Amino acid sequence: MRLKYLELKNFRNYCRLKLDFSEQVNIFFGENAQGKTNLLEAIALLCIGKPFRAKKETEVIQWGMEHSFCKGIFGEDDYQIQIEIGIGLNEKRIKIDGQIVKKDAVFGKIPVVIFGPDDLQLVKGGPQQRRDFIDLYLAQIEPKYRFIYYNYYKTLKQRNRLLKQEFINKEELEIWDEQLIEKGTKVIVYRNALIEDVKPYIITAHQSISGSKEEINLEYISFNKQTIGNDEAEIKRIFKEELRNQKQQELQRGLTLVGPHRDDLLLTIEPRAELKIFGSQGQQRTAALSLKLGLVEKIRESRGMYPLIILDDVMSEFDDHRKQQLLKMLLNSAQTFLTSTSKRDFPFEASQTSFFAVDRGEVHYVAN
Ligand SMILES: Nc1ncnc2c1ncn2[C@@H]1O[C@H](COP(=O)(O)OP(=O)(O)OP(=O)(O)O)[C@@H](O)[C@H]1O
Ligand SMILES: [Mg+2]
Repeated sequence: MRLKYLELKNFRNYCRLKLDFSEQVNIFFGENAQGKTNLLEAIALLCIGKPFRAKKETEVIQWGMEHSFCKGIFGEDDYQIQIEIGIGLNEKRIKIDGQIVKKDAVFGKIPVVIFGPDDLQLVKGGPQQRRDFIDLYLAQIEPKYRFIYYNYYKTLKQRNRLLKQEFINKEELEIWDEQLIEKGTKVIVYRNALIEDVKPYIITAHQSISGSKEEINLEYISFNKQTIGNDEAEIKRIFKEELRNQKQQELQRGLTLVGPHRDDLLLTIEPRAELKIFGSQGQQRTAALSLKLGLVEKIRESRGMYPLIILDDVMSEFDDHRKQQLLKMLLNSAQTFLTSTSKRDFPFEASQTSFFAVDRGEVHYVAN
């Protein structure tokens, strides 16, 4: 899928913007605080339906304004789709091809892989970051997963509410245990399968960027650091057993302590050195980027189209070799949107590349 045209009104520091793109690599360069990341945020908003860095959606509305608007025309071959998102102080309106749709209808229409400076936390940070990563991309790859995930978290919330009560009805808790096992097992199975599927792509991406022989490995970890495979009956058995073991603790703390909401993704470099602990900064960054780029191929395989790739400020952190390798990979795949403070970060054949200078909320096409 490609973004052909973008239009913004009162979106962050953009008063008005109309822009056409290259089908391949689009590079936005400019000094700090000019609007590079804001532009990427607008593109991502059109793909996933919410801004990737704003805590509150209304943050994207230009200061002093009451309404922000964003429109994208996407297409591939003879297929075209237009997405419009309007965010007001108290309302949000989404249109697809001119028709008003439900707020979550945009998600997944345009697959996207986003990588930014905070993604180092994928490797360095806590398990929540890695779970969010899996969930966001799994939902783009398998639309069904959104419901599976939602059902589990609804059950989890209800079970937590029960555990917090002063007097707990044992039979009621047993019903919720069963629900938790049933729904949680599905989440585990889906996540496990994704990791197994995407692993070869991630290993390849990692090797291409690092150019090294060191091999990255990833394992989905459930129930206190066990890799449990994908046999549903076996997962349910362990789930049940763990719930039994933790019941006292759960009752004391009024919290569900067992289930996929506590799982993790273990990232290692041969011979099983945990990247979070032993990886150099560059190794960690390369690993985080490989996780994302590996998904690009996986999404193409399962959705039959390339996702958009959004890379915010990645170049500055890599050595020249890694930079070259990354650009080589990008030129042969999806439409990519990159930001950098310096045009010099891109010293390569630029026939399939468009450069844009970003300056105080204005964007100008620049000849190479
Ligand atoms: N809602 C808003 N309305 C107006 N301006 C905003 C809004 N939100 C953010 N800004 C401003 O937009 C400017 C550009 O931000 P952006 O993060 O896009 O910069 P950048 O070009 O990516 O810079 P850097 O190289 O430092 O990452 C900042 O000065 C920021 O204060
Ligand atoms: Mg930025």
